[in-house]
Amino acid sequence: MRRILVVGSGGREHALCWALRREQPTLELWCAPGNPGTESLATNLPVSTNDFGGLADQARQLGIDLTIVGPEAPLAAGLADHLRAQGRRVFGPLAAAARIEASKAFAKEVMRAASVPTAASATFTDLDEAIKYVNHHPEPLVVKASGLAAGKGAVVCATRTDAADTVRAMLGDGAFGEAGRTVVIEAFLEGEELSVFAVTNGREVRLLPAAQDHKRLLEGDAGPNTGGMGAYAPVSFATPALLDRVRREVLEPTLVELERRGAPFRGVLYAGLMVHPDGTPNVVEFNCRLGDPETQAVLPLVRSGLAELFWRAAGGEPLSEIELAPGAAVTTVLAARGYPDRPERGAVIDIPEDLPDNVEVFHAGTSRDDGGRLVVSGGRVLAVTGTGGTFSEAQAASRAAAGRIVFSGRQHRGDIGWREAARA
Ligand code: AMP
Ligand code: GLY
Repeated sequence: MRRILVVGSGGREHALCWALRREQPTLELWCAPGNPGTESLATNLPVSTNDFGGLADQARQLGIDLTIVGPEAPLAAGLADHLRAQGRRVFGPLAAAARIEASKAFAKEVMRAASVPTAASATFTDLDEAIKYVNHHPEPLVVKASGLAAGKGAVVCATRTDAADTVRAMLGDGAFGEAGRTVVIEAFLEGEELSVFAVTNGREVRLLPAAQDHKRLLEGDAGPNTGGMGAYAPVSFATPALLDRVRREVLEPTLVELERRGAPFRGVLYAGLMVHPDGTPNVVEFNCRLGDPETQAVLPLVRSGLAELFWRAAGGEPLSEIELAPGAAVTTVLAARGYPDRPERGAVIDIPEDLPDNVEVFHAGTSRDDGGRLVVSGGRVLAVTGTGGTFSEAQAASRAAAGRIVFSGRQHRGDIGWREAARA
């Protein structure tokens, strides 16, 4: 396999291009549409992720061997189905399996059928029934838009009153559009969050290093939920014993159940877990792709074997092994002024030229203005990854570099990895 197309334009896709290029310097690599960061590693193609015909044409003309799809929206809308129908090998699930992320109601059904540990829940489309359920639910409780909501569709409610207001906003006022026309109401789970990435051919799994995301905007895990403000890997409480339990109790039964429903999963099954103090790995959500910004911390720890593993998973073949690098990685997200509600575009970004070798800057919401200057063009702008022999070296590198990259309105957290630091 020599020709790879990465679909997407975020920090995750930049990290994918970076990792593939690092492992195979002679690889022929394209990214659609890519960003100013992928430009130096791959040939960017000006084709949008929802232009399935355009992507298929490019893949055919370029003789692409493997297409790796980064984001969930095109997978949920059937991009892998479209490409596979034309005989292309795709790393990423068909729409029927991507539903595990695109419909939280479906994910809950699958988990129930497969006896996967998760919060007790009920699904509603009717406002009055949902309110009745809320009125008898212990506090705190969680209300979720069932559909895709860019990581912002879950609202943890301290009281039944808050939960009722949230349900009214979603089902009554359409606050989350179509995504919120069905809501899942579930019990609050105690514990610590963990992101587990299982590369799978539908049956076998290979785990990438486990990561921890930081969903809240502000230091100390305060403020609104975001798509993720930073991440680190590996996570010391994710011991081999815990990960083995996740494989047996969560990943394998879910894959079997998906296959039983005629929706075998090829790609990355991402289990967002809440690990209870007693060690039970409860599923908070499934995603049908790599995490963002977790990927920017996880892939620097994969020394070799990524392309081969993705190739085999995509083809439904027996999986190969990856070789991991020792040490740790921490990534700090720099977000735009106004993120997550109303990110402002246009600020000019200054990245120093003399950042140390153990720092990588992954682009997410950046573009070039008419004068060729790098400017802010999205909510999460850059992900700054530091690596090191130890967690604290990686954390210090990420934090220091993040502080030196400047643009007007920059928001970022200086405490990424605070739980790991507290354990050390
Ligand atoms: P989700 O969109 O389902 O990933 O939820 C976003 C975030 O809300 C999660 O990362 C958790 O921090 C929080 N959350 C979601 N569901 C629960 C739950 N049942 N108990 C506690 N926290 C939750
Ligand atoms: N960082 C969370 C996600 O990718 O869904």
